[in-house]
Amino acid sequence: MNHAVIIGTGSALPERVLTNFDLERMVDTSDEWITTRTGIKTRRIAGKDENTSQLASRAARRALEMAGLGPADLDCIIVGTITPDMTMPSCACLVQKELAANRAFAFDLNAACSGFLFSLDVADKYLCANPAMKILVIGAETLSSRVNWQDRNTCVLFGDGAGACVVTGTKAERGILASRLFADGSLWELLHLEAAPSLNQELRRPGQEGAAIRMAGREVFKIAVRAMADALQQVLAEAQVEVGRVGLVIPHQANIRIIKSLADHLSLPMEKIYVNVDKYGNTSAATIPIAIDEASRTGRLREGDLLLLCSFGGGFTWGATLIRW
Ligand code: UT7
Repeated sequence: MNHAVIIGTGSALPERVLTNFDLERMVDTSDEWITTRTGIKTRRIAGKDENTSQLASRAARRALEMAGLGPADLDCIIVGTITPDMTMPSCACLVQKELAANRAFAFDLNAACSGFLFSLDVADKYLCANPAMKILVIGAETLSSRVNWQDRNTCVLFGDGAGACVVTGTKAERGILASRLFADGSLWELLHLEAAPSLNQELRRPGQEGAAIRMAGREVFKIAVRAMADALQQVLAEAQVEVGRVGLVIPHQANIRIIKSLADHLSLPMEKIYVNVDKYGNTSAATIPIAIDEASRTGRLREGDLLLLCSFGGGFTWGATLIRW
């Protein structure tokens, strides 16, 4: 059967770096607390000309270049995001315009931090039916526009960035081998964001009701570990792959303690787990494609490696995907 294979990756990060020491001057926190409780040291903050669609387009250009394709080759653009520039048009339509990918249809997908995995799964299903398609799958966020900078419980956690993959169809033993997605809307209140998209300056004003992310961190933590471990095990079982054969795991980057718990659950050494939460914090839908791009460009991923992805986010949404690189 046809399935998706990644043929190009790219990422884009804002220039401005915000350190834990900078945050010490903004809220009642410390580098020591943030480092030990989350593993985060720095995160990137979007400035002018670094809207979600602009970061997404930069990541997309790099992915297209690696794939050896031009924008006119694209049939479809899917952007996983909860921070589009506007409610309408979608971020994906703005990327389509920016790239001049005139043949491509384009839409956003909201699955919060699972937005990239869900988008990749949708692309996989298109490619199953039509393997010649070239699809751009992006995870892009500017969460800095959506945190309350007076709330130390959340503002230290998030960052901005974008990652992109170009995928096409294949019958070969490479690409997506198995994928499982889940959702549980009954727990939505534990992690939510009421307000509309990020270019609306009115909504960015401090104190604006519902304008910032709210999270019951401790509860989310526990559910996230259990849910991702379960999703990973289901995907491995479906593909009949022993966990020891996995070359690299790229989990959603929210907290180093969550990542270490997952490694324990899977009995995998940390050397097999990709970590960049220290550099970028939690960039929501962008964490996984940014990490895939870094891992592929730095040789952490080699052809034939088994790559496991997993995510957890607001909704709740979660899932896991197994890929042969
Ligand atoms: O990406 C979507 C999924 N999201 C996640 O997976 C995030 C999951 N949750 C987490 O990563 C963690 O729960 C947090 C990093 C958000 C919080 O860590 P925690 O170990 O669960 O801390 P806590 O919320 O239980 O807070 C412990 C203490 C509290 O003080 P008291 O009540 O014990 O006096 C907080 O007020 O730490 C305090 N605290 C802080 N102290 C200094 C909370 N934030 C900060 C801070 N600096 N930034």
